Amino acid sequence: MKLNNHVFGVSLMAMTLSAGAAAADKLTFYCSAQEEWCQLMARSFEETSGIDVDMTRKSSGETFAQIRAEASNPKGDVWWGGTGDPHLQAAEEGLTAEYISPMRDQLHPWAISQAESAGNRTIGIYSGALGYGYNNDLLAANNLPEPACWADLLKPEFKGHVQMANPNSSGTAYTTLASIVQIFGEDEGFEFMKGLHANINQYTKSGSAPIKAAGRGETTIGIVFMHDAVAQAVAGFPITVVAPCEGTGYEIGSMSIVDGARNMDEAKQFYDWALSAEAQNLALQVNAFQVPSNTGAQTSDKAPDMATIKLIDYDFVKYGSSDERKRLLQKWDEEVSVLPQ
Ligand code: F6P
Repeated sequence: MKLNNHVFGVSLMAMTLSAGAAAADKLTFYCSAQEEWCQLMARSFEETSGIDVDMTRKSSGETFAQIRAEASNPKGDVWWGGTGDPHLQAAEEGLTAEYISPMRDQLHPWAISQAESAGNRTIGIYSGALGYGYNNDLLAANNLPEPACWADLLKPEFKGHVQMANPNSSGTAYTTLASIVQIFGEDEGFEFMKGLHANINQYTKSGSAPIKAAGRGETTIGIVFMHDAVAQAVAGFPITVVAPCEGTGYEIGSMSIVDGARNMDEAKQFYDWALSAEAQNLALQVNAFQVPSNTGAQTSDKAPDMATIKLIDYDFVKYGSSDERKRLLQKWDEEVSVLPQ
């Protein structure tokens, strides 16, 4: 009897607890920025809102593919971070929801134009220029010349010394492919990618992995966003950051709400908060050196100065369109990735 009472008491308590847990607000957060920043955003939003956050970090192309695969039964609520192109493709394919945040008037025009070109199904949260970084010690040890341009990366002496991500999984690498095509034209651009392929030692899944590998001395050069290379230098690794002499592309890192999100109110609450200067300033705590989209947020003095970098007029509408992204990736798969190295 005593035992029964105890069991009854415990199960009542369990029922109360699970009823409480079911009632708690929650948010399933897909993140495609750097892991440390994703974790800090998740923790800080939990603290300010009391909403439980379940965060998963995956690269931009991978998250896009996941949201598409889950479209008939969406599991994610909000997708924050990652390059803008796959966010634009998701918007075009109706995978993300239209939303106009009351925070919008606090943003730089480049962040708003990203939203306007996608029927308000995405918005810019940060920007950053593409480039590469190299390990000074490895360069010297291998007696290699200092590279300064994209074209330098094709030199035969760099064979096996260059690393980049796979453009299917990584937004960084897709930005690289689309930038090279815009800088050199499609035919010459693909010849460039083929020449580069001959010097590549590994295609990684995540965009920033190549510069982390360069920091550890596992590759000499990593093609990445310049802010990711700066982060390695700031962490004390012997990395030099390069803004390629021909000019370079850039990203508008973006945020979108998943269409049919189970936790739509919480997703909008996160979205509004993530556009605030206060939330964007969290970047400074984790050495994230992108340029924030809120005009009142601080840009680190270590961030690459976009005004001094020769930026191309990256055509986000074209290279973020579903047809163009699919076409370029397929062409890269069929004509570049299969070539012997
Ligand atoms: O590491 C940060 C970052 O470079 C972001 O600026 C960018 O949006 C994201 O990573 C891209 O990651 P990936 O190339 O893995 O999709």
